[in-house]
Amino acid sequence: MLPPDISAPSGPGHRGPRNVLLTGATGFIGAHLLHDLLGLRDVRVLCLVRSASAPEAMSRVQANLRHHGLWDESFVPRIVPVVGDLSQPGLGLSPEVLDGLAQTLDTLVHSGALVNPLNDYEAHRAANVGGTVELLRLAGIGRPKTVHHLSTLGVFPESARARAAGKIPEDAELSEASLPTDGYSQSRWVAERLLSQGRSRGIPVTVYRLGEVMPHSSKGTPNPRGLADVLLQACLRLGLSFESSIRLDYTPVDHVSRFVVEVLRSNDARGGCFHVLQPESVSFNDILATFARRGFGLRNVLYAEFWQALTERVAHYPTEKGLASLAALLPAPLGAGDGRAGEALAALFTDATRHYALERTTQALNDLGLRWPPVDAGVLGARAEHHLAALRRGLAGQPARRAARRARGAAAR
Ligand SMILES: NC(=O)c1ccc[n+]([C@@H]2O[C@H](COP(=O)([O-])OP(=O)(O)OC[C@H]3O[C@@H](n4cnc5c(N)ncnc54)[C@H](OP(=O)(O)O)[C@@H]3O)[C@@H](O)[C@H]2O)c1
Repeated sequence: MLPPDISAPSGPGHRGPRNVLLTGATGFIGAHLLHDLLGLRDVRVLCLVRSASAPEAMSRVQANLRHHGLWDESFVPRIVPVVGDLSQPGLGLSPEVLDGLAQTLDTLVHSGALVNPLNDYEAHRAANVGGTVELLRLAGIGRPKTVHHLSTLGVFPESARARAAGKIPEDAELSEASLPTDGYSQSRWVAERLLSQGRSRGIPVTVYRLGEVMPHSSKGTPNPRGLADVLLQACLRLGLSFESSIRLDYTPVDHVSRFVVEVLRSNDARGGCFHVLQPESVSFNDILATFARRGFGLRNVLYAEFWQALTERVAHYPTEKGLASLAALLPAPLGAGDGRAGEALAALFTDATRHYALERTTQALNDLGLRWPPVDAGVLGARAEHHLAALRRGLAGQPARRAARRARGAAAR
C-alpha cells in the first residue's frame, strides 16, 4: 500500500519539462534518456546518482555517456549531479535538498532500478519498491510533477500470458492471481501497483513497460547485462553457434528513449501504460548469422555442446562474471542430443510481440510522428560493427581478440 499521506499537490499543472529529475543516468537506458532530454531546449536534468561526492557523480554520468558514444561537452551546464540513493529514506537526501527539489522539479523520469535476475525480492525491495515510494512522495509535495516510470513486461509472467484471451492490453490490471516468479519482476510488479495508487490519488503517472531493450540502432552499443547480449558474447568468446527457436522483439535503446522523451515532452498528460516494443521480432539464429557474415568464425554445434563448452569455460575462468551468471541461468541438457533443453532455453527469452498489445503505443507513435526502425541488416550489422570496433581497441579480452583475428582473416579471404 502506498502510504496514505502521499497524494497530488495542488497548484498549476505541468507546462512541459524544464527541470527534470532522472534516476539511473549511469545505466544503459538512462544514458540514452539523459542524451535525449538534453536534446530538448532549455531543459536542465538533475541526475540522482550513487557516489561519494557531486564531482564523482558527474564524472560517472559523463563516463557512461562517453561509453555509449553520446557525450557532448555542451551538456555540462545543464546536468546537475545529485548524490542520492533510491534504497534510502528520502532518497538519501537532506530535508533541505528534498524541499528544494520539490519546489523546482516539474518532471520525474525513473529509470533507476536494481536489476539482478539471480537475486530475490528482498534484495530488490529497498531500491525498486522503496525508491518508487520515495519518488511518489517527492511528486506529492511542492510543485505538481509528472512521473515517468520505466517498468518491464515481466510484470505479466507466463501464467498471466497463458490466462489472457489474446494479447495483454496496455491497460490490463496487474492481478494477484498471476504474480511474477523472480524477485526482480516481483519488485517491478509491486512498484507498478504503488504507482497506480499514486495515479488514483491524482499524480500524473505514465508507465513504460519494456521488453529486453536492444543495442543502439546505428551505434550498435549493447546493454552489457542484457540476457540476449550475454548469450551472444558467450557464442563469440567460445567461437560457437547453435540453432535455436529463440525469437526476440528487437527494439533498439535509442528508439525506446526517444519514445519516452517525446511522450513526456508532448505534455498532453496521457498517463497510463505503454508497451514499448516494436512489432517485429528477430530470431537469435539471424543475429548469429549476421556475425558469421561479418567474418566471425563461429562453429555450428548442438546446444548440448555449446552448454558443455560454456560450463568448462566458467570452471576455468570463474572471474568472467557475465558468463558465470549466464551458465547459472541456462538449462542443462540431459544428453548430447537433448531437444528439451533447447526448448527450455527458448522459454528463457520471450518474444513479446506475440503476447502484448501495442495499441496505445502505436497511436502515440503516430501522433508524435515516430516509427520503429525495421529490423534489417543495418540494425543487426551495427551490433556486429560495434563488437569489431571494441576488439580492435582491445576491449574484449584475449579469446575475443583471437576471434577478431579469425574474423579479419575470414573477411580478407
Ligand atoms: N534494459 C532492459 O532491457 C530493460 C528491460 C525491461 C525493463 N527495464 C527497466 O528499465 C530501467 C533501466 O534499465 P537499464 O537496463 O538501464 O538498467 P541498468 O543499466 O542496470 O541501470 C540501472 C541504473 O539504476 C541505478 N541504481 C540502481 N540501484 C540504485 C540505487 N539504490 N540508487 C540509485 N540508483 C540506483 C544504477 O546506478 P549504479 O550505476 O550506481 O549502479 C544505474 O544507473 C529499469 O527500471 C529496468 O527495470 C530495462
